[in-house]
Amino acid sequence: MSTAGTPGEYFERMYAGSADPWGFETSWYERRKYGLLVAALPEERYRVCFEPACSIGVLTQMLAARCDEVHAVELVDAAAGRARERMARAGLDHVHVRTADALEPWPRDTCDLLVLSEFLYYTAAGGLDKRIDALLTLAAPGATVAACHWLGSSDDHACSGEDVHAALGRHPDLTRLVRHREEEFLLEVFRRG
Ligand SMILES: C[S@@+](CC[C@H](N)C(=O)[O-])C[C@H]1O[C@@H](n2cnc3c(N)ncnc32)[C@H](O)[C@@H]1O
Repeated sequence: MSTAGTPGEYFERMYAGSADPWGFETSWYERRKYGLLVAALPEERYRVCFEPACSIGVLTQMLAARCDEVHAVELVDAAAGRARERMARAGLDHVHVRTADALEPWPRDTCDLLVLSEFLYYTAAGGLDKRIDALLTLAAPGATVAACHWLGSSDDHACSGEDVHAALGRHPDLTRLVRHREEEFLLEVFRRG
């Protein structure tokens, strides 16, 4: 990765060991969490969604049903390839999945839906405010910003889910619309000012 945080090699290794290392396709926990996230989005339709770190595209496919366009990026080509195959199988030609570092420039200027799912805790706590500032330049004024992070601890996380949501909560451009907290994860939805 281009800034301090979990190194990209970690993710390459994860996908070298398993096509779906977090069980996104098979886990009820993940499916239910994705369902809650999508149900918490306030607008019925979105014009353009950006989803950094889409993995194999399970959430991406659910977002596609609510959006005219989805632009997703994933660092690891093997995972991005699986996401592209998933979209092709489902005939979702309005979804574009690139193999790219989500911290690099995006192909479109702005979105009206930005989804940050299990992504920001790969940033060191001291870099979170700056990272969120940079991500918010992708979101148009009035955009929905949805964030969901696991609250457990893991060696590969550069900060905690609590750190991530504290940083989002203190950002001056974000107004919280939804806060759903469970034992294992925190889901929040904001409007960008
Ligand atoms: C725990 S998975 C979460 C996947 C998905 N967002 C979800 O919630 O189902 C984390 C993913 O982030 C990807 N990733 C980590 N840093 C990234 C970066 N800078 N750019 C793009 N993808 C990244 C990893 O390769 C991995 O697929």
